Amino acid sequence: MPDVRQDVTDFLVIGSGVAGLRAAIELSNYGGVTVITKDVPNESSTEYAQGGIAVALSDEDEVGIHYEDTLKAGDGLCREEAVRVLVEEGPERIMELISWGAEFDREGTRLAFGLEAAHSRKRILHAGGDSTGKELERVLINKVKAIPSIKRLPFTLAAELIVLDGVCLGALTVRERRPASLLARATVLATGGAGQVYSITTNPQVSTGDGMARSYRAGAALEDMEFVQFHPTSLFLPAAPHFLLTEALRGEGGRLINIKHERFMNRYHNEMELAPRDVVSRAILTEIERTGSNYVFLDLRHLGEDFVKRRFPRVYSTCLTYGLDITREPIPVCPAAHYIMGGVKTDIDGRTGIKGLFAAGETACTGVHGANRLASNSLLEGLVYGRRAGRAAGEEAKSPLPSVPEKKAMPPGSIPAHDEIRGDLRRLMWQNVGIIRSETTLLQAKKRIEEWRYITEKSFLARREIELKNMIQVAGLITEAALLRKNSVGAHFRLDYPGKGEGWQEHAVLMKDGGRAHP
Ligand code: FUM
Repeated sequence: MPDVRQDVTDFLVIGSGVAGLRAAIELSNYGGVTVITKDVPNESSTEYAQGGIAVALSDEDEVGIHYEDTLKAGDGLCREEAVRVLVEEGPERIMELISWGAEFDREGTRLAFGLEAAHSRKRILHAGGDSTGKELERVLINKVKAIPSIKRLPFTLAAELIVLDGVCLGALTVRERRPASLLARATVLATGGAGQVYSITTNPQVSTGDGMARSYRAGAALEDMEFVQFHPTSLFLPAAPHFLLTEALRGEGGRLINIKHERFMNRYHNEMELAPRDVVSRAILTEIERTGSNYVFLDLRHLGEDFVKRRFPRVYSTCLTYGLDITREPIPVCPAAHYIMGGVKTDIDGRTGIKGLFAAGETACTGVHGANRLASNSLLEGLVYGRRAGRAAGEEAKSPLPSVPEKKAMPPGSIPAHDEIRGDLRRLMWQNVGIIRSETTLLQAKKRIEEWRYITEKSFLARREIELKNMIQVAGLITEAALLRKNSVGAHFRLDYPGKGEGWQEHAVLMKDGGRAHP
């Protein structure tokens, strides 16, 4: 077999959502940057973010109140220093974004702030009503395009990280089934989440946990993987994907009703529809079971046609595509996997345990979200921590690249019926490692995932197969962490351990070769 081609860049950024792009912009102060992404550049969770971006900038708000709300949502497991950095640096990052051309919605000349669950103040900036992520991607991609030292490589997937003597030296990439080593003095992982390991998810197709899986294989520590946030309201229509129905709909007064048209959240929490997401998701599951249905309704009819169309144009037009006029009919909804609080363990500058490897955004676990993320904190996290990871990577990568032995191309593996396995895995995770878990369901999942473990040990050149390998790896880690946590905190709910028992404040850290630590 021929040698694998070797390319060199100063800095490699994997992923082109908000965290990756912001990191790339920062890194361009230190040298040449290559941003690789496995799909088109804007195909990321950022692009689909609706509700907005939380920031303490309104007259009624303070950084200290944003800090307290974030800690409260995190249910006792946030890393306080990480939260402080987020809320203190957030306003500056937003003003910077505005100076780069971001157009957030305004009331007159003043920024308009929305409300979402568990925020004690209106602090959610939004753009185009409910297309906030799209606006962020637009601005950041334009900024990146204007910097000549940043090169972008779409449709290029990082199959594995290259780690020699404990130092990350880039990634083995695959483009059109051709492998190439892309060597770099520092690598920033910003590959987003892993929602695709669940059969019901708001996440785009690209969210297959790639960054987490390959970091784990390279020897990095993964933390808090049991904490998966389920969004209470995704569209439930037979012919439609589980399109996100932003929490801002409830923030503006949208009501949840069951199929008997009874409003029910008063039975579960005094904050009603704006209770924490895990509470609302479990309440919906209970109502679904109680009424023998598959869904409940989100009712916007009382909000008025003009308001709904103006404030939520994307939700309105998307639902209309599927024949549903949300100004006249209640929307069938069910919870969906939405965000993973855990990820590659980093410090507040994105450093992982592997020298030369940094991570930011949903891939990373800075501890900023604790056991449950405060809504709309993730785009802010991408901006704040993307910049910090970029800066730290740029500052620290002083030494030239050592020479890396050329690799021989390996004959690629293949997985017959990989799409079938993907479907089985996703359903298994939804049923057994979903909103409500127990030792029994988790052990069943573990056993089944073990049967697919051989796939994580093979090399592939096809994107779907590489993704499946990563999904199996990440599903195993979520299940393992969920088994370890014998209590219920934040988004992790165990039927067999329904309260916060002993040791609930510990963080599960998983590493290859049996490394398991509670630092
Ligand atoms: O409901 C939403 O728009 C989602 C926001 C978030 O997950 O941060």
